[in-house]
Amino acid sequence: MTHTPTLSLTDAADLHHAPIDVATVLDHLVRDADAAAATSIGFPGAVDLDQTEVMTRLGRRLWNNIGDPADTGGTAHTRVLERAVVAWVDDILAMPADDRWGYVTTGGTEGNLSALHAAHRRHPTARIYYSTAAHYSIPKIVEILGARGVVVDARPDGEMDYAHLAAQVRRHRRWPAIVVATAGTTLTEAVDDSTRIRAILDEHHVRGHLHVDAALSGIPLALDGRLRFDDDAGIGSITVSGHKFLGAPTPCGVVLIRDSVRGHGGHVSYTDTVDSTITGSRCGLAAALLWHAIATHGREGHRWRASEARTLAAYTVYQLTAAGWPAWRHPHAFTVVLPTPPEPVRKKWLLATHGDTSHIICMPGITRAQIDAFVADITAASPHHDLTRTPSGVDHDRAPAGRRTPATTSTVHPPRQREGTP
Ligand SMILES: Cc1ncc(COP(=O)(O)O)c(C=O)c1O
Repeated sequence: MTHTPTLSLTDAADLHHAPIDVATVLDHLVRDADAAAATSIGFPGAVDLDQTEVMTRLGRRLWNNIGDPADTGGTAHTRVLERAVVAWVDDILAMPADDRWGYVTTGGTEGNLSALHAAHRRHPTARIYYSTAAHYSIPKIVEILGARGVVVDARPDGEMDYAHLAAQVRRHRRWPAIVVATAGTTLTEAVDDSTRIRAILDEHHVRGHLHVDAALSGIPLALDGRLRFDDDAGIGSITVSGHKFLGAPTPCGVVLIRDSVRGHGGHVSYTDTVDSTITGSRCGLAAALLWHAIATHGREGHRWRASEARTLAAYTVYQLTAAGWPAWRHPHAFTVVLPTPPEPVRKKWLLATHGDTSHIICMPGITRAQIDAFVADITAASPHHDLTRTPSGVDHDRAPAGRRTPATTSTVHPPRQREGTP
């Protein structure tokens, strides 16, 4: 089999041009991804865990967890591992043992859909409240469900504006409320305070459902005891991502919904399974990867990973600020927010950029050497940078935000203050 080495990946992969050199195409993909990894610091996938064992041992057959995690039928499935993963996440969140249910999803979006679908079935006339910092899947899900969405302002640091939430709830108080709080917003890793949100609903005598989209911060905050799903929390559902902090090498996640709230799904006779999840067939490999990540590190191992990542994030804020590039982070966060660097830096480094603000996410596996190289590139590209410049929309005169109403039956403990410039 011959193959021209200069062929682009698109041409080499073109299925109309047989014979195809499969090994070359796969090598090309891996080479490109490896080359990009060193400068990829803007997205939240942990890169420190080695899952080769699972991929090698299980990668040769179909593992289909079709139906409910409690189902036992079918040939090759990993539901026993899925149940163990869900139970572990339940436990670190202190979810009541007699009112828990959940499953391994395709990712944060499916988890949000499953939870909001369950909530909307119970409260079909509810307004779904979400902040402008919520993930883009939320308005999409509101549309899919044919529900009415109510947008709430977010503060410059990404946390929900509770005064605006209260005003919106007051305006729509005739209808039940489904409120989406975010624990780790996509751009700044802000954490909405679910205790304050519940208090606002109670104050206006509005019933409904509180969903927490904890895609990024769910596991690390739960390990710290700062995100809890116990009886006092008043939370109806939570989603976490599996390919972010837990580093699964395939998109996946976990959704947890109170058993008393979820839809139970019908029995499907030809598969002998219960249709309680969003998709029919479900990826058993993802459940095995999550189980492996948890089994090989345990609570303490993951707590240590989170702590190391936060230490690196603090180091990053310090180094950027010392270099005259004002950066900040929420104290619990892996995410470092900074003014968007000049184009040569953005060309080399894969950052997440939103207008004049960018972020780096110091996920486990990102190294000091990468941060040092990034800071050196910024310094070289902007020798005359204005040291007084601050990230867009962030009121540094008022930062740190200072103490807010103390969370009493606290579920998500919000950051008390922000670290960084000025
Ligand atoms: C807050 C939040 N929610 C949900 C998601 C969606 O996750 P996924 O891409 O796995 O659907 C993300 C992903 O970045 C996120 O940041």
